[in-house]
Parts: sequence; structure tokens; C-alpha cells
Amino acid sequence: MANLSKLDQEFVTKAAQDGLVEIKMAKLAQKKAHSDRLKDFANVMLDDHSLAKQRLEEVAKQIGIKLPKQLSESQKNLVDKMSKYKGDQFDRHFVSTILQEHKKDVSLYHRESEHGGNDELKHLAAEIAPVLEKHLDMAQSMQSGA
Ligand SMILES: [Fe+2]
Repeated sequence: MANLSKLDQEFVTKAAQDGLVEIKMAKLAQKKAHSDRLKDFANVMLDDHSLAKQRLEEVAKQIGIKLPKQLSESQKNLVDKMSKYKGDQFDRHFVSTILQEHKKDVSLYHRESEHGGNDELKHLAAEIAPVLEKHLDMAQSMQSGA
């Protein structure tokens, strides 16, 4: 087991759980999205987060750490809540939730890439951050209707 700093540990746990919730949310949106644009976004999210998950798993294996496999309670509640919305109400809530999540994630990844103690994790954070920024941009333009 690698000896990780508190920051690294926090990053790994949050990155793994946030990744899981993004995948769940994307799958939900593939089924429930009202607009084609959101369906397209969900496809991009699913592809990108599946790849990010795979990369995180590779690095975790490499440095000898275990990743959480379950969502936190609040994340379960979030997915639950989202699954109850319908039509364009679903789309609106989805986009605003994704915006909030990705804002938190982008700062999480930047913090790790700048201040992380473990080189593999730092590099991974730097590699994935632009993907999350892309999703944030996409969600922002969907929310503003641009
Ligand atoms: Fe995303």
C-alpha cells in the first residue's frame, strides 16, 4: 500500500466516487434525456468517464491502493432524486447538477495536479482535468442555451 498524503487520499476517494456517479448519471440521461443534445452529452460523458475510471484503476493498481466501489449516501440520494424527474424538467435538473459536480471536480483535480504528493496521481489529475473542463463547458453552454 502506497503511503499517501491526506490530500492524495482525499483525491483518490472523491475521484473514484465522483467518477462512479458521473457514469450512473450519464446512463440515466441516455434513457431519460428529453433533448437530443442532452442525449449526445450523455454519450460523451459515459465514454469519457468510463475511460477516466479505467485510468484511475490502472494507477491505483500501479501504486497499490484500493478504490471505493460504492457511491456515498448523498450520491445515492442524488441519483435517486434525478431518476424521478421527467421530460424537460429532467434535462434542466441534470444540467444544473452536472454543472455543480464538475465545478467541484475541476478544482479537486487542479488541486491534486498542483499539490499532490504522489507523482502518478498528480499526472493522472493533470491528464483528466481538461476532460472535466470540457464537460463543464458543455453543461454551461447547454444551461445558457448557447
Ligand atoms: Fe463529466
